[in-house]
Amino acid sequence: MEINSQYKLLIVDDVAENVELLVESLEPCNYNIFQCSSGEECLELAAKISPHIILLDVSMKGIDGFETCRRLKKNKETSHIPIIFISGRTDGADLTEGFSSGGADFVNKPFVIEEVILRLNRQLEIQNLFQANINLIDKLERQNQQLIQSEKMASVGQLVAGVAHEINNPTNFVSNNLEGIERENKKLLEILEEIVPRGNSESDRFYGVIDPRFITIQEMIDGATEGTGRISRIVKSLSDFSRHEEELPSKTNINEIIKSTVQILKFNLDSVDFSMQLSEAHEFLGFPAKLSQVIMNLLTNAIYAAKEKTTETPKVQIKSYENAENIFVEIYDNGNGISKELRAKVFDPFFTTKPTGVGTGLGLSISYSIIHDQHGGDLSFVSDSQGTVFTIRIPRNKNI
Ligand SMILES: Nc1ncnc2c1ncn2[C@@H]1O[C@H](COP(=O)(O)OP(=O)(O)OP(=O)(O)O)[C@@H](O)[C@H]1O
Ligand SMILES: [Mg+2]
Repeated sequence: MEINSQYKLLIVDDVAENVELLVESLEPCNYNIFQCSSGEECLELAAKISPHIILLDVSMKGIDGFETCRRLKKNKETSHIPIIFISGRTDGADLTEGFSSGGADFVNKPFVIEEVILRLNRQLEIQNLFQANINLIDKLERQNQQLIQSEKMASVGQLVAGVAHEINNPTNFVSNNLEGIERENKKLLEILEEIVPRGNSESDRFYGVIDPRFITIQEMIDGATEGTGRISRIVKSLSDFSRHEEELPSKTNINEIIKSTVQILKFNLDSVDFSMQLSEAHEFLGFPAKLSQVIMNLLTNAIYAAKEKTTETPKVQIKSYENAENIFVEIYDNGNGISKELRAKVFDPFFTTKPTGVGTGLGLSISYSIIHDQHGGDLSFVSDSQGTVFTIRIPRNKNI
């Protein structure tokens, strides 16, 4: 009877002797037994301890067993718990009311303990099968989401890789030509200096006019070179992002991923008060492109939330740090936060509060599965009306 020790059983009866007798008789079964003596208490306790099964007396003072059952079934947190009524009167009308209130079975009073145990175990078995089914459906749904996402990312990735390539070529023309202009400019000055040697009053006047021009041209060349450098960095970030998904994990540096993702989002981040604080982070085995996707999702959500609150300057921060076991990334925004009612839903696929066309509602569900399923970590958040912090935790695998 060992197996029963894992099951929480709640016994509800307003006659103390009945409860005692049941507790005593069920002792050898090793259930984890809880007890209370009214329907009202049962509602409260069931929501708190989430029992696997409830043995519920029908006639009690206050709300009776049938009404208690109806209320348990109405509450999302307790509706799945199988309920077995214990009743002294089980005529046809009682049975009908009991089953239609959501009860799973009846035990007659005075009870035969072997029968109670059989009925309890049968309901627990049914419940287990039911749960196994739900788990299977969940798993299928998650796999389906991942499939959709990986197809979506593959086509976005190809497009981005193509665009990056197209931009790369002309950028190279520009930067090569800029180097040429810089060389020619220097040569031109040397030629001039040969023709008009420096060091006399006439040539001083001449170079007084010429030198500032050469300096201005050099400054323009520097400015343009800075610009092409920036384009190259963006293109590199884009191609890192679109890199085809590795089948195997590779050495991953979280700070590099954060920096390249921030580069891609630079335009959006410029519209908020953004700060980045990266502490030393050791490399680990991971999937860089997928992690970049997670950080991009979280930053995009944070920017959106911060900008939605119009009463304060929108603020977004990203931080990385580590301890001996884990690497952490925190993304903070000073938006309105996620309301209590929505907190349980935000990781659900397709859950979004954004207008149609703005959000698909897939961001967090995919991010969660990337962190949880592919990196063995956690994605969690704390949120109130002052803002939200999402935290990524990834275990450091030290064998690299
Ligand atoms: N930082 C945040 N502050 C407030 N609400 C948030 C925050 N992050 C997520 N949410 C809420 O969670 C919902 C789901 O987020 P998720 O990233 O999964 O989808 P989305 O951003 O709506 O769409 P998508 O990411 O597909 O563009 C959002 O619509 C929003 O209501
Ligand atoms: Mg999102």
